[in-house]
Amino acid sequence: MQTYKDLKNEWLAVLNNYYGPEETHAMLCRVTDYRRSWSAIDLLINQDQYLTTEDQNWYADVLKELSQLKPIQYILGETYFYGHCLTLSRDVLIPRPETEELVDLIIKREASAVGLNVLDIGTGSGAIAVSLKLGLTGSHLTAWDISPKALRIAKSNAIQLGAAVCFEEKNVLTLGPQKAVWDVIVSNPPYVCMSEKAHMRAHVLTQEPDLALFVPDDEPLLFYQKIAELGLSSLLPNGRIYFEINAAFGQETQTLLMHLGYHSVSLINDSYGKPRIVSAVRP
Ligand SMILES: C[S@@+](CC[C@H](N)C(=O)[O-])C[C@H]1O[C@@H](n2cnc3c(N)ncnc32)[C@H](O)[C@@H]1O
Repeated sequence: MQTYKDLKNEWLAVLNNYYGPEETHAMLCRVTDYRRSWSAIDLLINQDQYLTTEDQNWYADVLKELSQLKPIQYILGETYFYGHCLTLSRDVLIPRPETEELVDLIIKREASAVGLNVLDIGTGSGAIAVSLKLGLTGSHLTAWDISPKALRIAKSNAIQLGAAVCFEEKNVLTLGPQKAVWDVIVSNPPYVCMSEKAHMRAHVLTQEPDLALFVPDDEPLLFYQKIAELGLSSLLPNGRIYFEINAAFGQETQTLLMHLGYHSVSLINDSYGKPRIVSAVRP
């Protein structure tokens, strides 16, 4: 028989080398919230309670997968993003806190406009598109991805959360000029250089889809260049573009947009002080 206190000690002993004590404790709280709807305080108050055999087996399975470096979000098959519970599978990137900051910035900046036409390029789980649809009054959301498997997850998230989004399978790298229809284009495209792979944590490297993450070393701005060019034809006059970027290429992304004629180009830091967002206005 195992108490929750024993469970915590077991998790710290097994996972400490991979995640450290704080992250291990946070993961135990997250799975206990999922399994028992207990807060961190509930876990502390109930630390001397015994687990049922069923719960003990369930936690043991989760611990095994965590020690194989499977991310908690894939194990539980869900994550929270901007207050919404999203279903996830290994076909989609796990949405990140910095992307929540991108969504928050767009919602704050665009709040006064009603009925915006918004395009999300590389939608993955649909995190950005669904959150913008729910956060911008009367907005019309379209979301593209090259991956049919990602689009299936994104569609189910949109249905689950009651967000009407039009999903389309498209390869943004092969599109020519389009009609001017969008007020806003947003994208968190693949932006990690292949050479950065060596410095990434193993559970990102081996578990998340390469298609969502990597660009060739000699073309770090591949997607930004293509999407910015597409914006010149497909954004309405004064239409806005918002990018999540690789913090190492802030200046270069700004310069690219300015060379294409965009104005009001700004580089915005995330809450850790890293340049992670670029916004600009179509000429
Ligand atoms: C960094 S992930 C972002 C996912 C999601 N928007 C988020 O912020 O969590 C990039 C996404 O772009 C998609 N993608 C990769 N190449 C693409 C292409 N050529 N055209 C359209 N989408 C592409 C991937 O499938 C992936 O879902």
